[in-house]
Amino acid sequence: MRIDILTVLPEMLESPLGCSIIKRACDKGLAEIHVHNLRDYSTNRHRKVDDYPFGGEAGMVMQIQPVDDCISALKKERDYDEVIFMTPDGATFNQSIANSLSLLDNIIILCGHYKGIDYRIREHLVTREISIGDYVLTGGELPAACVVDAVVRLIPGAIGDEQSALSDSFQDNLLAPPVYTRPADYKGWKVPDILLSGHEAKIAQWRIDQALERTRALRPDLLTKN
Ligand code: ADE
Repeated sequence: MRIDILTVLPEMLESPLGCSIIKRACDKGLAEIHVHNLRDYSTNRHRKVDDYPFGGEAGMVMQIQPVDDCISALKKERDYDEVIFMTPDGATFNQSIANSLSLLDNIIILCGHYKGIDYRIREHLVTREISIGDYVLTGGELPAACVVDAVVRLIPGAIGDEQSALSDSFQDNLLAPPVYTRPADYKGWKVPDILLSGHEAKIAQWRIDQALERTRALRPDLLTKN
């Protein structure tokens, strides 16, 4: 899978995408992530990518031209399945969107900044709009990093033990059951006996029961989703 991220702050993406599972997935050739600085596409001699809004509101607006030129250059090289714009008024990101994006070959993610982007970009170039929640961040870079992280870890082979992506919280609309590691007794805080019993079937049942119990207690809304 190839992901092209368009931003005015490429350095904000370096660290979240440059370590751990995402880096390993890229090193293994499972994902290719390219970050493009929109200023490189500016025709302005000061590399400006924003301007004052028509109608005289406060704040600057990201201009069409650098975004259009960058997207056009990418589209000349290959077809894209989606051009995603990260914005607080997009569809709320969740595991099911992550699952569907992980099946795509090529996507572009556009990070917004300033007061907003010229609305014509959204009308003519963007195919999908995603929010990571009902709060406003300073730009779309951290949201883009969240989406890329959630998507890339789902690519087969990205996580060592593939079972572990399947047993994630939300994957079946259930929260994950608790996990424990050694020591079995720490300051008298004990691991549930069942996990030490060696009885695989009973342990599997215990995990299901725990997942259901935690979901009922913490996120009952998930149980009514299909
Ligand atoms: N840009 C700023 N805030 C955002 C959010 N909550 N989700 C996606 N993009 C954003």
